[in-house]
Amino acid sequence: MKIIVCLGTGGVGKTSVSAATALSLARAGQPALVLTTDPSLRLKTALGLRDGMTEQRVPGVEGELWAALLDVHTTLDDAVRMNAKRGTEQKILTHPIYKTIASSLSGMNELMALERISQLMARGYKTIVVDTAPSRHVMEVLDKPLMFADLSSSNKVKLVSRTYRFVEAMGLMAVGRNALEIYARAEEILGGSLVKQILDFYSLFYPVAEAYAERAKETGALLRDRSVTEFRVVTTPQKAMRDTEFFLAELEKRKFPVNMVCINRCWLRPLGEKPTSGLAGEVAAWYENVSDSHRAAIEAVKAEYSDSVGRICVLDELPKDVDGAGALRALESQLLAG
Ligand SMILES: Nc1ncnc2c1ncn2[C@@H]1O[C@H](COP(=O)(O)OP(=O)(O)OP(=O)(O)O)[C@@H](O)[C@H]1O
Ligand SMILES: [Mg+2]
Repeated sequence: MKIIVCLGTGGVGKTSVSAATALSLARAGQPALVLTTDPSLRLKTALGLRDGMTEQRVPGVEGELWAALLDVHTTLDDAVRMNAKRGTEQKILTHPIYKTIASSLSGMNELMALERISQLMARGYKTIVVDTAPSRHVMEVLDKPLMFADLSSSNKVKLVSRTYRFVEAMGLMAVGRNALEIYARAEEILGGSLVKQILDFYSLFYPVAEAYAERAKETGALLRDRSVTEFRVVTTPQKAMRDTEFFLAELEKRKFPVNMVCINRCWLRPLGEKPTSGLAGEVAAWYENVSDSHRAAIEAVKAEYSDSVGRICVLDELPKDVDGAGALRALESQLLAG
């Protein structure tokens, strides 16, 4: 089992590096799947995928390469089918509260990312490269599921969800003080009928939530296991120092292992013939200036972090966008070469 998670700030090349990483594993004979949690579907262009499929084998690759998108609705529906009590699946899937949760809960994307990884592992994928979405707070993909797991295993939440049917039958006064207090407070905020609907829903849904929480904890533990997981921080020269410092600290706080920092889009190629006058001369001087600053940024990161990160990998600015196998191979060969 191997999981590689690529993360970084917006637009630095997470999707390109993820796709190139999975491609290099597949071509080396290790069947691999790249999962994107990014709703903007950039992975489709990077890999030249067909429309309308949440999981597909990537054509034209020697070796077995799969690509999967994070479809939040399907992932949640699958979790319900797998974990609901027998006979309640349809009630849950058609419940008005379920529809609201599935489509409008902010952060559903982050909540479902770990679930999707665990569903893919259960389906037999052994090497998964995860391309994370640019999110408001980049660590949410990892934090939210574990927060949810803590919340849903709290005794108060268990008490409310498990006692609701009983409460409904017996009248509110039959429950203990703790649960009564929660119902009363929720009614004050949301109004009686909405609370009733929510509690009705949660009393059906809680086995799904508890199973989800259990799996989120298991996947969280896998992500902390150095023998399974590798985090790669993707950045660009201008942001390399700041990003590396930030992500290393955040990942270390959560005990997630980092093995690589990829500094992408570096302008390191020397100019062949250097024009010295006119506009061409100015452009050449500007290029060399930028190039020098990129070199300095790379050296600074290496000096500071070589000891704490397994590898610092430098990737060139390619002559065109990363769209398709040719461009990915160029990145792949640099990833392998270091
Ligand atoms: N080494 C490179 N050379 C040239 N273009 C690149 C390189 N890496 C990435 N790009 C281009 O930069 C853009 C952003 O790349 P990509 O989508 O991989 O970044 P991202 O970090 O996944 O972005 P987002 O945060 O929006 O998900 C794309 O147009 C891609 O083609
Ligand atoms: Mg992306």
